[in-house]
Amino acid sequence: MSRRRQIYEGKAKILYEGPEPGTIIQYFKDDATAFNAQKKGTINGKGVINNRISEHVFTRLSTIGIPTHFIRRLNMREQLVRQVEIIPLEVVVRNVVAGSLATRVGLPEGEQLPHTLIEYYLKSDELGDPMVAEEHIACFNWASHEEMQDIAAMAIRINDFMCGMFSAIDIRLVDFKLEFGRIYDGDYSRVILADEISPDNCRLWDFTTGEKLDKDRFRRDMGGEEEAYQEVARRLGLLQDDGNPGEVLDMSAHRSRLRGAAPKPKK
Ligand code: TMP
Ligand code: ASP
Repeated sequence: MSRRRQIYEGKAKILYEGPEPGTIIQYFKDDATAFNAQKKGTINGKGVINNRISEHVFTRLSTIGIPTHFIRRLNMREQLVRQVEIIPLEVVVRNVVAGSLATRVGLPEGEQLPHTLIEYYLKSDELGDPMVAEEHIACFNWASHEEMQDIAAMAIRINDFMCGMFSAIDIRLVDFKLEFGRIYDGDYSRVILADEISPDNCRLWDFTTGEKLDKDRFRRDMGGEEEAYQEVARRLGLLQDDGNPGEVLDMSAHRSRLRGAAPKPKK
């Protein structure tokens, strides 16, 4: 076992000190929680799949110019990321009425919104992540006006890109949650995308059947969560058809084989 220092343990991930200053290792657990950790459980293999899906989405987002904390995937459950000062907001982007929005406004789940909604929640387990207005964010200085402009612009671009990415594999992107962090360069700071994007923090419905392919299966005791997460990974081309993460997950080995070279030994 390595003796690296644990920085933080969250509900779905553990953060360790990275190999160089300013880096962090994100370890993806199989633990699942809902309703502010009142419901606890495990989704077998979730950590491996979310690590891979999040790597894929963050890599794709960086190709359209979204700055992210992702550096590289290290192994089945870990990725190396830039250390950020996390902005204490959960940024929820919604295309379709579902979840807490359906309850708040009394509309049935599944109604398409006339335009994309962005909502902000204060990241606070003690307070149960209450929804906050931009006025609160400015008043309590959780983020500056300029940072909020950057966050909203990135959230819309991320949504547009992800709607297209998922609709290409017959998945409706209903809503999702993002987190952002600051990185400093002297006195100057800028905001980049942090955390993860996976079926843990997105609502993903099969476009044709309406079947839920996300954590709502766990939240709502529907069962089949392992298969749902695997199905998302499979449609994104990240799994073999038999659902085995296997070697296909290890793209460095895959690329080496394509070049006819022996895969690099794991450190
Ligand atoms: P909500 O409808 O329960 O407010 O959730 C909106 C989206 O945010 C949904 O895709 C699930 C995600 N989410 C999280 O990632 N973490 C959370 O703690 C909550 C409540 C929702
Ligand atoms: N963040 C929630 C919790 O605190 C989980 C969720 O509903 O996604 O347990």
